[in-house]
Amino acid sequence: MLSIINSCNLSGIDGFIVNVEVDITRGMPCFNIVGLASTEVKEAKERVKSAIINSEFDFPTKRIVVNLSPADIKKEGSLLDLPMSIGLLRNYITRDIDYFRKTVFVGELSLDGTLKKIRGVLPIVLSAKEKGYKRIFIPYGNLLEASYVDGIEVIPVKNLRQCIGYINGKIDLNLGQIFSDIDKNTKEEEYEEDFSDVKGNYFVKRGLEIAAGGNHNTILIGPPGTGKTMMARRVRTILPDLDKEEKIEISKIYSIAGLIDNNIGIVNKRPFRSPHHSATTTSLIGGGVKSTPGEIVLAHRGILFLDELSEFNRKTLEMLRQPIEDGFINLSRLKYYIKYPCKTLIIAAMNPCPCGYFMSDTPCKCSAYEVIRYKNKISGPLLDRFDLFLPVDSIEHGEFSEDNFNESSASIKKRVQNAKDMQKNRFKDSDIKSNDEIKSSQINKYCKLDRESEQIAKKIFDKYKLSNRSYTKLLKTARTIADLESSEDINKNHILEAFSYRKGYYKYFK
Ligand SMILES: Nc1ncnc2c1ncn2[C@@H]1O[C@H](COP(=O)(O)OP(=O)(O)OP(=O)(O)O)[C@@H](O)[C@H]1O
Ligand SMILES: [Mg+2]
Repeated sequence: MLSIINSCNLSGIDGFIVNVEVDITRGMPCFNIVGLASTEVKEAKERVKSAIINSEFDFPTKRIVVNLSPADIKKEGSLLDLPMSIGLLRNYITRDIDYFRKTVFVGELSLDGTLKKIRGVLPIVLSAKEKGYKRIFIPYGNLLEASYVDGIEVIPVKNLRQCIGYINGKIDLNLGQIFSDIDKNTKEEEYEEDFSDVKGNYFVKRGLEIAAGGNHNTILIGPPGTGKTMMARRVRTILPDLDKEEKIEISKIYSIAGLIDNNIGIVNKRPFRSPHHSATTTSLIGGGVKSTPGEIVLAHRGILFLDELSEFNRKTLEMLRQPIEDGFINLSRLKYYIKYPCKTLIIAAMNPCPCGYFMSDTPCKCSAYEVIRYKNKISGPLLDRFDLFLPVDSIEHGEFSEDNFNESSASIKKRVQNAKDMQKNRFKDSDIKSNDEIKSSQINKYCKLDRESEQIAKKIFDKYKLSNRSYTKLLKTARTIADLESSEDINKNHILEAFSYRKGYYKYFK
């Protein structure tokens, strides 16, 4: 007897349907799983057998072959336990074949037949819905996460017996009640820190507002204790609230990484990832045996903060060049490759030399060679990927008591939100979301300059010998400055202000 049960597996942040074909025939009792199954899928044999017996069903003592189709894509994880068991228990099920054609099953079984929470439920439920399936059975523990998807019937089950009982119409799970009882928390979480805590440093704060307004990668550079880390940590408090689409996009990544908060079920906060400078390449860009998403992917639609940039391994940093540029990362494996999105705002902070005081009011103790060696830890191509270079210096003593001038995050956020709204409207017919994503072919369309600003931009380009990338970054930054003022036109002041944020580059890196 052959049964075909639909299930799902993950490739990157998307699910793909797996047909679990269970064939039970006469012959020597055996249980074989074929179809490019990983070790944990193969181990399902033992879990499934015990779960069936401990749920008081008979395990077929026949020749069992399970084929996982498509056979050329590797299947991973323990979520195929449930569909395999359903195929093996076909004799106990009274539903016709049509029910199973429109149904997907996912779940890991424990030996007593209980269904355990799995990773990646959100992308799996979304994929099943997109592929036109009517219903999906998931472990009860994943209920909250799955409840954010509309348009597909989600059936959370606690154990194998309950699952079979529900399919046969013998058990009422009271789904209406279960879903109405869920307390969905979609409100953006509040932050403890605020920009009003930061005294003085107006130039840097304005630079960070522009960075947030158009997602421009930024380096903060200056002596120790001047507030670089403090300010970088506050950038997410001025980023606009996440929209529903962004929340789902981020939650899909966190669901795969197993980082979804059990009490909320969805990501309600812009990601802020701050890996330590001892981070390995794998932890930063992702990979490993399970091709898990790295820090740059976990920071998608949020901030990747690289504090003490010059202390990171140079080779590891170089790996970030392609993903920073493209907004996605491809992890190649033997038989397949995985694509993760990483549209991330990169904020980096560093000292200008080993002692930290080069070009500051405090005398620097380093030799010229030491300063050059320190700066060379960051390659030219990596620096070229930054839009704003903000020199951070100590503030004047009087600025500590000037509370009135320190704008709150809420007030800065309003301008950022306004700039983002303009960008949303501007890019509504394209696949980009913010100014930093403008492609070189679109520069003339979106960053049109009048004659005066064109001449100034040309002078800057000629005098400072900007790379093509730096020049387009200058125009994109000017575009954001204009957006923050609700201006459709870019004028010379916008260009000049945008150029002032390269000041730090000429001060410290030239
Ligand atoms: N502009 C400021 N306003 C108020 N407090 C500040 C300011 N700058 C620094 N501080 C205080 O100094 C502390 C240290 O600042 P922070 O850690 O951000 O320095 P840093 O520039 O990152 O130094 P390092 O180069 O050593 O990492 C902050 O926690 C804060 O208490
Ligand atoms: Mg610091």
